[in-house]
Amino acid sequence: MAKILEKERLSEAVWRFRLHAPRIARKRKAGQFVILRPLEDSERIPLTVAGADPEAGWIDIIFQVMGKTTMQLRDLPEGASVRDLAGPLGKPTHIERFGRALCVGGGVGVAPLYPIISALFAAGNHVTTIIGARTEELIILEDDIKASCNRLLIATDDGSHGTKGFVSDVFKGLTEAGEKFDVAFVIGPVIMMKVTTALTVAAGIKTYASLNPIMIDGTGMCGGCRVTVNGQTKFACVDGPEFDASQIAWDETVTRLNAYKSFEARVRENYHECKIANA
Ligand code: NAD
Ligand code: FES
Repeated sequence: MAKILEKERLSEAVWRFRLHAPRIARKRKAGQFVILRPLEDSERIPLTVAGADPEAGWIDIIFQVMGKTTMQLRDLPEGASVRDLAGPLGKPTHIERFGRALCVGGGVGVAPLYPIISALFAAGNHVTTIIGARTEELIILEDDIKASCNRLLIATDDGSHGTKGFVSDVFKGLTEAGEKFDVAFVIGPVIMMKVTTALTVAAGIKTYASLNPIMIDGTGMCGGCRVTVNGQTKFACVDGPEFDASQIAWDETVTRLNAYKSFEARVRENYHECKIANA
């Protein structure tokens, strides 16, 4: 059980929950995640630890309400507890003084990117961050990130905030201006990571992407999170979630992520109807 200390709505469908989890707060490192179940009969979902205070004993998780389980989580009130919480899981991000680091985040992928930005900045890197969303209201963590890097650039699909276009367009502008980077971290929708990686790799930048495939046990036993990297089967929960982005089989990753979409939509609809019926 982990008590919900605070709930904050960051955008239309994105929430930040602060959970009492002293042991995870002490051990977690940038790039790691937790697996939680909101209720006894919920599915298990992986969520990145977006921040933590080892002294106060809390961790922050940020999630987008997408299906039944994230709806169940959103519906828990402050002061209630999530049923179980396991972590920290996954390999931490390799952080060192690379030099000029580029971080690119799309949509809610900005949440898992934030601790990596902070860790790179704390390690003495010059950090340029590009974040993007469909529209201004969906941009999250702008102030937190601005305070944790050297330069923040924003893109929105509709031009309501920052540059009009995709995060990949902003990166193209930087390369056209002759900017060079020593390393890149890219997190967001798979198509955004695929497109951005093609550009950063073509520019000769070592690039890492963080994957969020379906996870069940989070310990390398169920095979649910398997991905192909450099022609080999890897498990995102224990071998990742970050991988050399130039070696990820992107099209297969998209296919596997979409495999349960229609089933998830049906379950979400049923949960919604049950809530209306019980209201
Ligand atoms: P979205 O679809 O609104 O896209 C967000 C931004 O990504 C866009 O504004 C744009 O800048 C960029 N983008 C989108 N399509 C692009 C393209 N074709 N080319 C270049 N850039 C593009 O994002 P959303 O709805 O917030 O994202 C939800 C998705 O993110 C879900 O599929 C979720 O699984 C995924 N996600 C991934 C991670 C991860 O760890 N990789 C974490 C959280 C969420
Ligand atoms: Fe089961 Fe990774 S979640 S192997």
